[in-house]
Amino acid sequence: MDKVVEIEKLFKKYKSGTDDLVILEGLDLTLEKGKKLIITGESGCGKSTLLNIMGGLDRGSGGVVKICGADVEQMEEKDLYNFRNRIIGFVFQFHYLLKELTAAENVMMPMFISGETKKKSLEEAEKILLKVNLAERASFYPYQLSGGERQRVAVARALINNPSILLADEPTGNLDEKNSRIVEELLFSLVAEQNTTLVMVTHDASLSERGDMTMKLEKGRLREI
Ligand SMILES: Nc1ncnc2c1ncn2[C@@H]1O[C@H](COP(=O)(O)OP(=O)(O)OP(=O)(O)O)[C@@H](O)[C@H]1O
Ligand SMILES: [Mg+2]
Repeated sequence: MDKVVEIEKLFKKYKSGTDDLVILEGLDLTLEKGKKLIITGESGCGKSTLLNIMGGLDRGSGGVVKICGADVEQMEEKDLYNFRNRIIGFVFQFHYLLKELTAAENVMMPMFISGETKKKSLEEAEKILLKVNLAERASFYPYQLSGGERQRVAVARALINNPSILLADEPTGNLDEKNSRIVEELLFSLVAEQNTTLVMVTHDASLSERGDMTMKLEKGRLREI
């Protein structure tokens, strides 16, 4: 089986005055292709920190983090940028869409940046917007979209390059029940279709049930529950 995530003895510390604030404390995690992992844990336990390190947005203080066999901690910024764009999709609690771009332009960006033509990237963006039921909103700007619609655009953008892994940090955390369920359906149907490995932080019980396994982050390590 292909290993998409291999984390060994990951540490993350912050300096706090003269003391060290230890957030991750020798955390191990292995995930095979297509697995869907749900992570829970108390506020401040380090869930976002872990996702950010996995995605190369932050660095650990020790240990090894391999994504699809590549050591993200050892990569140079430029290689990391390209790697992230092709291999990793991100969805956050807040959508982080670029406000000066339309929905379709936001969605096409990862593909365009990775070297596709604008025409082809826009075509693909429109295809995936159709899958998240936003075909008729393709030319809308973020301010013209509802919260749920923006989050669906963010999901489409995260998956347009068919990444090996999707990292989702409370993707429904900011949505009402109805929109949470809509985003849930679309997200899980897309990751199933693409056999994307999923690591999702959520407190949403409905989302938790759809994973292959649930782990709790506690005292700096992950424990299966
Ligand atoms: N730059 C920083 N400097 C010092 N401490 C930090 C820094 N960034 C994060 N922390 C601390 O690390 C801890 C973990 O933060 P993190 O955002 O990963 O928590 P979380 O589990 O995602 O919480 P939540 O469920 O509230 O989103 C927190 O206690 C936070 O204060
Ligand atoms: Mg968080």
